Amino acid sequence: MTQQEFPLSLITALRAATRVVVLTGAGVSAESGIPTFRDKQTGLWENFDAAELATRYAFDRDPAFVWGWYEWRRAAVQKAQPNPAHLAIATMETRVPQFTLITQNVDDLHERAGSRNILHLHGEISRPYCEGCRQSHVFPRATPKIALGGEERIEPPRCQSCGARIRPGVVWFGEALPDGAWASARESARQCDVFFCIGTSSLVQPAASLTDLAIDAGATTIQVNPDSTDIDDLVTFSLRGPAGTVLPQLVAETWNIPQ
Ligand code: APR
Repeated sequence: MTQQEFPLSLITALRAATRVVVLTGAGVSAESGIPTFRDKQTGLWENFDAAELATRYAFDRDPAFVWGWYEWRRAAVQKAQPNPAHLAIATMETRVPQFTLITQNVDDLHERAGSRNILHLHGEISRPYCEGCRQSHVFPRATPKIALGGEERIEPPRCQSCGARIRPGVVWFGEALPDGAWASARESARQCDVFFCIGTSSLVQPAASLTDLAIDAGATTIQVNPDSTDIDDLVTFSLRGPAGTVLPQLVAETWNIPQ
């Protein structure tokens, strides 16, 4: 593993920061084997049509197809393990006085890595809820058969309390973000000293606008991504590389933690 050289001004800003915000996207879970959405060939939206799967309209038109697809993804998340990027972010939280993790990911790998103060902007795949009474439902582990497929049709179950249909616990295109999480995310982005943007294409709004809020508020902004994005020239530092390599090195160097 090659050791990355970090600018001293980056390390200094991070050591001095009292409020740090980390925004993560699918790239942070890529090294855990969970596919991203927009990477060429491997991205989910390269192989599946987002409009057929991640909208209210799609679920109403073909609930069994959509529910089956989300069960396949839920099984993949259950099988996956946190990677060094998730662990480095959890370590950062223990070193910074005020730390907020904002994730667009619907998996629970940040939680399993030990992160505590987490805002899930796009919901949680492990928490399907009732369309009628909105009660969350906990389901048994998805079967291995589902983990192999992705196109298996499964009828969504019914709520045991009110009989309405259960839906995936994610935010679909065209839906509002959870009010509380979104308000807290905006406030923390406006007030932070350092803002990280890790493993996201920064293409999906309104989540991507958080980076603009942090820039406008004068925060030091740090992007971590192996590829270029539209915000390369807008952030203070753009660290090129996989999050699972870059972040453990950055955290170790900043807080003198032996690797
Ligand atoms: N480390 C860091 N970044 C990575 C890695 C890695 N190992 N591998 C890939 N990436 C980067 C890609 O270069 C890309 O810029 O992660 C980014 C993933 O981008 P997207 O697939 O667009 O994911 P994201 O930004 O999280 O998408 C936002 O879109 O479809 C919706 O709801 C879905 O929450 C998702 C939202």
